[in-house]
Amino acid sequence: MALLLGDDAPDFTADTTAGTVNFHEWLGDGWGVLFSHPADFTPVCTTELGTVAKLKDEFAKRNTKVIAVSVDPIESHKGWVSDINETQNTTVNFPIIADPDRKVADLYGLIHPNASNNTTVRSVFVIGPDKKVKLTITYPASTGRNFAEILRVLDSLQLTANYSVATPANWNEGEDVIIVPAVSDEAAKEKFPKGWNAIKPYLRVTPQPNK
Ligand code: BEZ
Repeated sequence: MALLLGDDAPDFTADTTAGTVNFHEWLGDGWGVLFSHPADFTPVCTTELGTVAKLKDEFAKRNTKVIAVSVDPIESHKGWVSDINETQNTTVNFPIIADPDRKVADLYGLIHPNASNNTTVRSVFVIGPDKKVKLTITYPASTGRNFAEILRVLDSLQLTANYSVATPANWNEGEDVIIVPAVSDEAAKEKFPKGWNAIKPYLRVTPQPNK
């Protein structure tokens, strides 16, 4: 059974490039991103992990820890990290889980047998401070991810966790947001003192409330 939004993010203890990690303990009270890649020493994965390393400050700004996983063993990960650092001009600064027995892969449904029987797909899980799954995205091995989108989604998830708003298509931090339909106009007057533009009664646009 696949992990669904709102489910508990499964806990585990695993060997990583940063030592043994107990996942929930390691996450602490903040947000987390767990992302899988098909295999070490492959070109697209090399660019992905390098990209994530360069976004360290962006994830930190969002109080978010990042952890990668594939079914390769720890020695392979360690060797590959040198290649990532060299070719992507960065320093890998997050743990990579070694999952040769597929414990994490099974818990998170990272192997899609009709895509590949023995490698993990490119999945992303965003986990909230309550250890619930807030977002899942899955890409095939042939398509590298857009990590700017992961940061954008984190901004939306963190905003909408705290305010009665939703974010429209292609929204970016700082842009106008939508008042959720469950909030009456009466209640909105108190919650959104900057006011709103009612394009339709169900489509009320307001400035981002925490700006
Ligand atoms: C890659 O990371 O380049 C890759 C990995 C598995 C299949 C295809 C591409």
